[in-house]
Amino acid sequence: MTDLDGKCITLGVTGGVAAYKAAELVRLLGKAGARVRVVLTGAGARFVTPVTFQALSGNPVWTDLWDPRASNNMAHIELSRDADAIVVAPASADFLARIAHGLANDLLTTLCLARPRAGVEGAARDCPLLVAPAMNVQMWENPATRRNMDVLRQDGVVVLGPGSGDQACGETGMGRMLEPEELLDDIVAAFLPALLAGRRVLLTAGPTFEPLDPVRGLTNSSSGRMGYALARAAAEAGAQVTLVSGPVSLAAPRGVRRVDVTTAREMHAAVMERLAGQDVFIGVAAVADFRPAEFAVRKIKKGAARLTLDLVANPDILAEVAVRPDRPLCVGFAAESENLDAYAEAKRRAKGLPLVVGNLVHEALGREDSTVVLFDDAGRHPLPPGPKMEVARRIIAHIAAMMPRRAPV
Ligand SMILES: Cc1cc2nc3c(=O)[nH]c(=O)nc-3n(C[C@H](O)[C@H](O)[C@H](O)COP(=O)(O)O)c2cc1C
Repeated sequence: MTDLDGKCITLGVTGGVAAYKAAELVRLLGKAGARVRVVLTGAGARFVTPVTFQALSGNPVWTDLWDPRASNNMAHIELSRDADAIVVAPASADFLARIAHGLANDLLTTLCLARPRAGVEGAARDCPLLVAPAMNVQMWENPATRRNMDVLRQDGVVVLGPGSGDQACGETGMGRMLEPEELLDDIVAAFLPALLAGRRVLLTAGPTFEPLDPVRGLTNSSSGRMGYALARAAAEAGAQVTLVSGPVSLAAPRGVRRVDVTTAREMHAAVMERLAGQDVFIGVAAVADFRPAEFAVRKIKKGAARLTLDLVANPDILAEVAVRPDRPLCVGFAAESENLDAYAEAKRRAKGLPLVVGNLVHEALGREDSTVVLFDDAGRHPLPPGPKMEVARRIIAHIAAMMPRRAPV
């Protein structure tokens, strides 16, 4: 199953230089399983022609409010009624101003105004509207645009970005449209339930590296993928996420605050410093149990036929967090090479953890897919095997269900 399987997305493309990136977005949405119908404004069609979008989406492209191909001649109704979401990328300053004021003077603004909204009479469901602004920094910072964005947010429109950086006009600053891959992540997240809204989650991920001399050290084969997938899944679920990461070659998931560390002791310090106020702590990192007792300032030279390393124990971060009186909900990982049930449950009890995610090393470390079993007070819960992101979302859903309910405000 893909992230947007069976979803129908109406993609509006307005008149901005970033319209060329919308072509890649169509491709990514299609690859993620969505059916995409593109609506181009008149200005949008000056930047990229309908032919490109038709070829990439495999569907006819819509440009005209008066298009006779629509049932009852009402393209604006057809394109909003059976859409699971309306996404406008790029969204020009002009388009944003018009929808902030309820204008309906072309096909795209009219279908946005006509979109079904939950709770409104006659609407069987909600059709969320997501906009990805793209414009020059002066246009973005203009008080008129600021006012329009406030109105749109109050109206429940989801605003994706914009980012900051070099702009087509030669200036630098806020107003760059997010990259197509980033937009895809945000669109996928918009379809997921906000199970951890308002919660704070702290995670560790990746291996640690314990230096032995200036060029060597002790580490392990953890890729960090599971920890990063969990960080992303927690952020998708609406949590404020901090990820303390050992050395890995992965990019931080969007919206996740990443703290880079190398050794187990650095990871320990980074976690303790950030623990206050967290609702959940997930120890995914494969922390080295031992480190060299001595660090050789100069490279250890080849010579003797045998070299003995003296190792000392590293702090047990998870165990330490789990016994604190102000502990958040603590989740551990048990990567075992055999006897998964017995070892994972023993670890859970020894450290007093409400939840342990167990997996067999040959089925997990360094791989794309994951097979895990959850152990909690209610017993063992095997999750369906699948890509790490899918498994991560299920683990986050399980954690969310374990969270103490909050008093209504
Ligand atoms: C070369 C060129 C580039 C433009 N780039 C942008 C842009 O990046 N963002 C924006 O908001 N407007 C941009 N505009 C202005 C819009 O195209 C103009 O406001 C238009 O009315 C938008 O119409 P639409 O929202 O119906 O697509 C650009 C105009 C030109 C001529």
